[in-house]
Amino acid sequence: MSAEDQKQAAGEAAAQLVRPGMVVGLGTGSTAAWFVKALAARKLDIMAVATSQATADLAKSLGIQVKDLGDTPAIDLTVDGADEIGPALSLIKGGGAALLREKLVWEASRRCVVIADSAKRVAQLGKFPLPIEVIAFGHQSTMARICDALSECDLGVAPRLRIRDGKPVVTDGGNLIYDAACGRIPEPAILAAALKSVTGVVDHGLFLDLADLALIGTDQGVIEVEP
Ligand code: 5RP
Repeated sequence: MSAEDQKQAAGEAAAQLVRPGMVVGLGTGSTAAWFVKALAARKLDIMAVATSQATADLAKSLGIQVKDLGDTPAIDLTVDGADEIGPALSLIKGGGAALLREKLVWEASRRCVVIADSAKRVAQLGKFPLPIEVIAFGHQSTMARICDALSECDLGVAPRLRIRDGKPVVTDGGNLIYDAACGRIPEPAILAAALKSVTGVVDHGLFLDLADLALIGTDQGVIEVEP
């Protein structure tokens, strides 16, 4: 089974968790897109909140009613992908530069389900470069203070500004992304707190204690993993 097949299977399994009348958070990325397509195919009477403009556009094109965060009753269930799934369903997210809206939607949700192909599971977080979203104003100076915060966590890495097509990637919120190739993150909670304390950092891609369930596509089918 290819990684894409595994993503599709996980997305389709997650779509079965949705019930009529629910408010559903829609993740961002290729795995989340499989979920959105499978959900649309069920033609349920639901409302959705999207974690990115790209996902909002996809959902609307498939007939899903999309509202802004805050314009719906509480979100019952959010389904989203991840770049790494570590112990206790600790996650790295933000490979698609949507981490801020994703975290806002996740934190506003009663239940969060992460969907992924099997290659995303790791024994320790950190191989995937950690995305850090920063305010554009003075971002070089913010980056220097991010380096200090990383050093305090024994991570001697210099984050790199994310560039696509020769230009800095700008998030839906108008911010920039730095990627920190930590290699290993032995203490994610300590790093998360250190990064949040840097003025100019809007958020980072560590999603800790947020996922209630993982649905992971494998060659043997979709498996469920709990924290
Ligand atoms: C976007 C994300 C995505 O969920 C993550 O990058 C996984 O993407 P994919 O499903 O395409 O592998 O966090 O910001």
